[in-house]
Amino acid sequence: MGHRLPDIGMLATAFAVASLPAAAQAQAQAWPVKSLRIVVPFAPGGSTDIVARALGARASEGLGQTVVIENRAGAGGNIGAEVAARAAPDGYTLFMGHVGTLAINPALYRKLPYDPIRDFAPITLAIASPLMLVVPPSLPAKTLKDVLAIARTRPGQLTYSSAGSGSASHLSGALLESLGKVDVLHVPYKGTGPATMAVVGGEVSMMFSGQGTSWPLVNSGKLRAIAHTGSKSIPNAPKLAAMNDTLPGYEVINWHGVLAPAGTPAEIIRRLHAEFVKALGSTEVRARLTEDGFQVVGNTPDEFTRFIASEKDKWAKVIAAAKIPQE
Ligand code: MLT
Repeated sequence: MGHRLPDIGMLATAFAVASLPAAAQAQAQAWPVKSLRIVVPFAPGGSTDIVARALGARASEGLGQTVVIENRAGAGGNIGAEVAARAAPDGYTLFMGHVGTLAINPALYRKLPYDPIRDFAPITLAIASPLMLVVPPSLPAKTLKDVLAIARTRPGQLTYSSAGSGSASHLSGALLESLGKVDVLHVPYKGTGPATMAVVGGEVSMMFSGQGTSWPLVNSGKLRAIAHTGSKSIPNAPKLAAMNDTLPGYEVINWHGVLAPAGTPAEIIRRLHAEFVKALGSTEVRARLTEDGFQVVGNTPDEFTRFIASEKDKWAKVIAAAKIPQE
């Protein structure tokens, strides 16, 4: 919401060439000697999983080790976040964090089993992208106004699926209720993948889905796109309306980034940063992610740390102002 996201090109060179003292270089050279894992706190098929797989595959080439994706879904990403937060800070466990686990959940959950600031060492912000409101073709709605009209004539009967309580897809629905003054029932799943399939199967009436997950389904006619959650038009569908055309002030940007457990040695963080920024800058990864509707970004660990803190403050205010109930 309103953040200026730095472009990868500027940052890759600035940070990757940082020189290390000789002893630290020797230690960094001894790592990695075995495969790494990226904990993805959602089921396969959602944005977090798509981004982690694309980056992990590319980074593994530079690291000379396999990068395994470990899906630990549940509780709006809190289960996976806790697994990563408690893992040994040895450079072999990484976390694919996002706006939900790092910025929304602290304000939404009364008890969070990790601290997004204290427990992680940020490596780089990776991507940012608006979500897309999708409905099954059977729902008689082509615009957000149509959806709001149905919700008003049938209060409490429309339902929306999400990737879990506190996920970006949940908050997008909660903001629709609050700014649209409608009552829509939230049905949480364990990730955007299963939650989007619930819309295709007609189990729920709508979802704010990740673009990477929903575009193929929109293009094959299994879903209808109603609006996106960004503030300006999206490259993949310049004519698709923004939620804030109808509901001023509405904006949800789903961002993802790579982190390690706090205490991971600085020289390992530097190497991981260099490899992930290189992966983000590769033509192949950029093409793939851009096609999926993601805006590729990269920044330094310090910038990412400040970004998380500011996003956390912002979402605390949004959740309080919208009176979104705590979990
Ligand atoms: C979200 O909606 O918060 C994420 O896209 C969840 C996911 O990656 O499955």
